[in-house]
Amino acid sequence: MILFKYANQLSSYILQQKKDGKTIGFVPTMGALHFGHLSLVRVSKSFDDITVCSIFINPTQFNNPEDLNNYPISIEKDIEHLISIGCDVLFLPSVDEIYTEQHIKKHYELGVIETRLEGHYRPGHFQGVCEVVDRLLSIVQPHNLYLGQKDFQQCIVIKKLIELTGRNDEVKITIVPTIREEDGLAMSSRNLRLDKQQRELATSIFQELNSIRRNLHTASFDKLKAEAKERLQQKGFVVDYVEIAKTKDLSPAVDTSEPLVALAAATTGKVRLIDNVLLN
Ligand code: PAF
Repeated sequence: MILFKYANQLSSYILQQKKDGKTIGFVPTMGALHFGHLSLVRVSKSFDDITVCSIFINPTQFNNPEDLNNYPISIEKDIEHLISIGCDVLFLPSVDEIYTEQHIKKHYELGVIETRLEGHYRPGHFQGVCEVVDRLLSIVQPHNLYLGQKDFQQCIVIKKLIELTGRNDEVKITIVPTIREEDGLAMSSRNLRLDKQQRELATSIFQELNSIRRNLHTASFDKLKAEAKERLQQKGFVVDYVEIAKTKDLSPAVDTSEPLVALAAATTGKVRLIDNVLLN
């Protein structure tokens, strides 16, 4: 695996690979890699000639400084994992390399998706995600971008970013299904911060989303959401939302005539977890 720390060196390497007719797959991450990330790398390797993974903890997407300070870091282990699955390139830039003196902060017109659900509870988060992904895409210039379904809203936002920045013909997004622990908990770097009791409870989020899926046709959406929320609260979660929404734009669902997704965000202890399940 080749490790690049500097954007211009990576871009020159990519240019050469493209001249040689190679396709480039890109997996952006913030590190603390788990099987979910590694599955994205595997999918990229199965479609593309060169797989680039980036590890960069992007400060501009954290609206809560405590969350940024507590974000798990395990670079050495991450590198071992990436080598073991045959990732071709790791991009490991510093903050100054991403946000250079020439970097101009833009505002991305994301529309209502920016303020729904995650956007409502994490103001500014999606602008930060767009800022870093825009910069990373301009450095890596991939043919294919691999994203995890676990961050469902982020996938919609990044699709929008690609439209807004006129990259529709250059980059194709592939959304890879969420990888789960044996008990159903969605894999996440944040799971590392759960203590034993919180870890046992954490699977309830997936259970509630699954229960919504099973009962979708037997009760009203409002009842399903309210009951799921209440059960999570009874277990001690602080619940930001349990929502049943349209997959295309996450507007609230009215009936089952369109593809729907159930999404939840809830905090146990100091760890905020999100998950989602496709419904129909
Ligand atoms: O999903 C993540 O890990 C991050 O939001 C991303 C896409 C790498 C941007 O920092």
